[in-house]
Amino acid sequence: MSTAKINNVETAGTVRDLGYQTFSIGKFRFERDEYFAHISFPYGRHIMPIDAFLRALMRDVAWGFFYGTVNFDGVLGTVNHYGTVDLFMGLCNPGYRNAGRAYVETFDTKDIKKVFDGMLEDWTVDGFDPFAAPDETGNPYGPKRGSNRKAVQRQRVVARRMVGLPGDTGYRSDSNGYPVNRQFEDVAQDSPEVHAEPGFESEVHAFNLFGYLSRSDVTWNPSVCSAVKDSLMCPTTEEYILPIIHGNDRVEWFVQATDEIIWDIEDGSTGNPRAKVVMKAGDVAAMPADIRHRGYSPKRSMLLVWENNDNSLPEKYRRGELKPYPVEF
Ligand code: PHB
Ligand code: FE
Repeated sequence: MSTAKINNVETAGTVRDLGYQTFSIGKFRFERDEYFAHISFPYGRHIMPIDAFLRALMRDVAWGFFYGTVNFDGVLGTVNHYGTVDLFMGLCNPGYRNAGRAYVETFDTKDIKKVFDGMLEDWTVDGFDPFAAPDETGNPYGPKRGSNRKAVQRQRVVARRMVGLPGDTGYRSDSNGYPVNRQFEDVAQDSPEVHAEPGFESEVHAFNLFGYLSRSDVTWNPSVCSAVKDSLMCPTTEEYILPIIHGNDRVEWFVQATDEIIWDIEDGSTGNPRAKVVMKAGDVAAMPADIRHRGYSPKRSMLLVWENNDNSLPEKYRRGELKPYPVEF
């Protein structure tokens, strides 16, 4: 791709003023028009539908760049090094790599976060919620039309110990703005009875996780509902498509709690297909440390993602000290 073409793209984007800001970091430049995000970088240009771009950007921002690689699609993405973040084009794409067109720059997390926060806020228009299921939000298209700060600044639930403990993150109810989702009306809303031995009252706790999840207003957003040292239980409600393709840097366990999700599993560095996994209620899977995956949930479903927050793990997998999968049959 010639430099002249890149220059034309930049001119075209900035000439038509639709009210959106242009954002730059390093040699990357991000522009939006009515339907698309346009990304230019030293070796070319890239284009993504604006709805897919904003949904991916929302997750990357809200999850603090997550574990490992967040692929926005087969070309654009970030790699979290926990303090710095790589922003890349074509890094996990053999076509780009073999043609010498893959491009990576590394930024301090706080610098790239600032740019991504600003872009998410400026490009998300009134009525569009990047965390909502497509059937529960307005559309993101057209010229700049207000904003949706409430949606894009939503705080992710991160329980210190467990949802519902004194001083920890609270329950959801009709009265605090979390009605039962339209697809979970059959989920029981009762609470477990806890009968602790005298003296152990403050050490035993239980809550109705299904009831809690039935009231989630977001999709594809694992939130920490209980934590024991590095063991994080991150349940989430899913509908439509995981907006990113997640490249793991450690093993993750999935427990399908209700309904069904179909997963595309690909090699983490090349994107070559490795498996299709159909998970039905009750199924458990260990997602290896060297894959990337994207889920499809035809109906709103509940998924428990079990994360290991030990940040010495990525290096152990890289050095081959640990096998990329946790069990052998
Ligand atoms: C994952 O990449 O493991 C993941 C991300 C978001 C979800 C579920 C799974 O909602
Ligand atoms: Fe994952």
